[in-house]
Amino acid sequence: MSKKIAIDGPAGAGKSTIAKIVAKELGFIYVDTGAMYRAMALYMINNGIDASESEKISATCQTADITIRHENGAQRVFLNGEDVTEAVRREEVGKMASASSVNGDVRKKLVELQQKLSATTDVVMDGRDIGTVVLPDADLKVFLTASSKIRAERRFKELTEKGVECDINVIEKDIIDRDYQDSHREISPLKQADDAVLVDSSDMTIEEVAQKIIKLYEEK
Ligand code: DC
Repeated sequence: MSKKIAIDGPAGAGKSTIAKIVAKELGFIYVDTGAMYRAMALYMINNGIDASESEKISATCQTADITIRHENGAQRVFLNGEDVTEAVRREEVGKMASASSVNGDVRKKLVELQQKLSATTDVVMDGRDIGTVVLPDADLKVFLTASSKIRAERRFKELTEKGVECDINVIEKDIIDRDYQDSHREISPLKQADDAVLVDSSDMTIEEVAQKIIKLYEEK
């Protein structure tokens, strides 16, 4: 049976950076499920659909073909054959993803894809509902969090380094809004699975968190 590590948590907790390190060290494949929700959101934006049009989102998601491929260990996401790995990182796509991921038809389609991927491959999968819905039988479940202030500071640093002008207070407000939206939606809200280990990364380095997760997995 394939091995599975589930990492859930709010936006900006460092899930993807840490999941990548853990996957590399253990020789697993890293699966970024947020990128799939983002690809779906990009498809909605490209089709001129608004976040409030739930019926249109339900109908339109049926014609989105989302696949992932790994190149040199890094995940690339494709939308109807086109590589959208970079395009989905845009802020407006992230916002749309938070809104369109409340849709049950979108979730059903992407959860099926995620379960299929993990059935035959050892994975470290990160997202919001991996431990609770996608991989309820994961070998290890981690709920990774950090304070909204710390997450905003990290995001601010990342954007500033890229030369993007931004306001740290706006970033923190966006993070708080996104947390609320992700954890209060009706279907598969962001929440810690009963059997998940809580890891607060506020006062830890990336490497410390990664090593802690590897140790937790090896102890299992
Ligand atoms: O992790 P991220 O910022 O790339 O995710 C974008 C949005 O997708 C996030 O706001 C909520 C949604 N998402 C989800 O609902 N379930 C997942 N497993 C992953 C992401």
